[in-house]
Amino acid sequence: MDVHVVSKSNNANHATFPLPPPATPLAPSSIRVRATILSLTSNNLTYALLGDILHWWDTYPVPENAPAPYNDRTAWGVVPAWGFATVLESTIPEITSETKIWGYWPASAHVVDLTLSKNEDDPETHWIETSLHRAAVLPLYNRYIISTSDTTDEARHAWESAVRPIWQCGYVLSEYVFTPDPAKNPAIHPLPGVPSVKKDWTNEDADISKTVVISLAASSKTGRSAAHNFACRPPGSGPLGLLQVTSSPEAIGAAAKALKPHFATKAVEYSDLAKSEVASWLASLSPSKIVIIDFGSRDGGFDALHSLVKSHEGLSAAELVILAVGFQQKVYTLADVAAAQAAVGAHGIIQLNTGPILDAALRIQGARRAFEGLEERWGR
Ligand SMILES: NC(=O)c1ccc[n+]([C@@H]2O[C@H](COP(=O)([O-])OP(=O)(O)OC[C@H]3O[C@@H](n4cnc5c(N)ncnc54)[C@H](OP(=O)(O)O)[C@@H]3O)[C@@H](O)[C@H]2O)c1
Repeated sequence: MDVHVVSKSNNANHATFPLPPPATPLAPSSIRVRATILSLTSNNLTYALLGDILHWWDTYPVPENAPAPYNDRTAWGVVPAWGFATVLESTIPEITSETKIWGYWPASAHVVDLTLSKNEDDPETHWIETSLHRAAVLPLYNRYIISTSDTTDEARHAWESAVRPIWQCGYVLSEYVFTPDPAKNPAIHPLPGVPSVKKDWTNEDADISKTVVISLAASSKTGRSAAHNFACRPPGSGPLGLLQVTSSPEAIGAAAKALKPHFATKAVEYSDLAKSEVASWLASLSPSKIVIIDFGSRDGGFDALHSLVKSHEGLSAAELVILAVGFQQKVYTLADVAAAQAAVGAHGIIQLNTGPILDAALRIQGARRAFEGLEERWGR
């Protein structure tokens, strides 16, 4: 079985090496699994890039018996990915071998052990990884869900692997950050618990009923998931309009219309941001607030949009809220990240992170209630 490792200092450099399966007996309350269906998306680049800061490298440390130089855990790591794994062996009576489990797995063919426990108020199928080496990992990444869908339906599992983790970002964005109904779902800060340019997040901050939302890199899966979740909002809760900026405006424009949203939509190319008709379209909706959400725009995209909004008479007075969700799709160095962070500070950009938002929702509402809403929407 091959282990796949990535260089922590240069994420473009990766290697595989064979390793025999574990010979040690499985510990109590544990499962031994191999990942069977994984999604490789732009997110995996982020997991490698910020693997030290957000402890993603901690989830699956390189096996101790790896050959040199890969046994140096400061230099090499196993990058995680979302998807399904199959249980090979279990010391947990409720989880039998061949069970398919949803969660965060190594993007590697090697067999791994997980130690699981249950939280009393969690849904029946949810288990939590409790290994010491994962203590600093955000809770969302330590949650494992037994699959109840047809285990032979690989196409469904593949779809779920590729889309669900990212779709959750669009869900929490529309349902919590910009909650349409604070009595149902509380307004939650885009990056709760972490110092941000904006300290508190009130119901007023969450209100987008008089707002135009502008999505950059709108054709990303995350951008499309946001568009889908915005389209599910009740009439009157906003936004007034959704401008999608993308290299594929025709397809994205048609997709937006197919969602039959209660708001106006327009899809444009990045180069169109220099045209006055885009600003006129935005101004015609008379927004009192403009929310820009950057899902990883192409070179110069954000700056072009920022100057369009700031220089147009009908838009410059509107409150401007800028959320950073993703990076442009390429391999970065940490120096690139530092430069991006400086730009974030300069424009008062608010970072958004799905994991802490979902964790805050679980704390406030309880896991059963929070997952009920999420599962119901995902089921659509
Ligand atoms: N903060 C969070 O909680 C969170 C959650 C989920 C995802 N993310 C992040 O969001 C970003 C998008 O993830 P995803 O999986 O949705 O991405 P994806 O589906 O792979 O998106 C690819 C899109 O990125 C755009 N793009 C920009 N520069 C590009 C380039 N040089 N080459 C190719 N495409 C380029 C393109 O959109 P256009 O043609 O429309 O420009 C393309 O369709 C990632 O950085 C991911 O880590 C963050």
